[in-house]
Amino acid sequence: MRSGGVMFRRPGAIEIKNREQLAMMRRAGLVVAEALTACGEACVDGVTTAELDGIAASVLTRRDAGSSFRGYHGYPAVLCVSVNDEVVHGIPGERVLRTGDLVSIDFGAVVEGWHGDAAVTVAVGAVPRDLAELSDTTRAALWAGLSAALPGGRLGDVGAAVEDTVRSVGRGYGILRDYVGHGIGSRMHMEPAVPNFGPAGRGPKLRPGMAIAIEPMVTLGSEEVYVHDDDWTVSTVDRSFAAHWEHTVAITADGPWVLTALDGGAAHFTEAGIPSPAQART
Ligand code: MF3
Ligand code: CO
Repeated sequence: MRSGGVMFRRPGAIEIKNREQLAMMRRAGLVVAEALTACGEACVDGVTTAELDGIAASVLTRRDAGSSFRGYHGYPAVLCVSVNDEVVHGIPGERVLRTGDLVSIDFGAVVEGWHGDAAVTVAVGAVPRDLAELSDTTRAALWAGLSAALPGGRLGDVGAAVEDTVRSVGRGYGILRDYVGHGIGSRMHMEPAVPNFGPAGRGPKLRPGMAIAIEPMVTLGSEEVYVHDDDWTVSTVDRSFAAHWEHTVAITADGPWVLTALDGGAAHFTEAGIPSPAQART
């Protein structure tokens, strides 16, 4: 979401979900995971971005879920598809994807009023190594942020973990500052804003029942972006390519629960030695 929006002007309490509400968010998250998997597999040379939107819409129908995106401030589709120098919020249409394109796909679903939101970056066919590294680094940064979503920690720990991971590769990548992650639950965008940068140990305390969408947006060049005349598509000013990865995670007493990952994050957290409720209940 865009930083400096309404949330900053009217800071409110962070929504705390009970078990049943988190279970509903998990249902939404699994719909998101299923749709993104299907869209990722369909991301081949010759497909149009509107066709990807249709695939995501059919998952919503099949799972009896709603779209978090369609109608949000007038957004016209269920998916955002952002290609190459587009970073986020690309509107699906007649554009044909070609081998070598780097495509970020962002999707949100709502079940019984509870939202899930996630994004993946997919390469169409073979892409140059610097693009694959950009996407891999952005995904690793997302997982570093998810791993910092610990009860008793602070929100700043998340942004610091994301930023440290991106900076650690030493490639001079840009991290968007105009767009950030967000709290999520009974609405898609809620308190708190979740920046992908900043010092650890600051900001609100992370408590069980909170849920946030962490979404690093990283470029091969500058972090400066502009919005197209369609009022949505966000592109880099220097035309450098970008990657965007996102998950919705619940903070629980037992550790992070990645609601939009099929396994809840179990595989990653087990390997990293981080306790997670996903290891018990996927
Ligand atoms: N994950 C994106 C965000 O949080 C979703 C944008 S939804 C749209 O900003 F409806 F605004 F497109
Ligand atoms: Co989001």
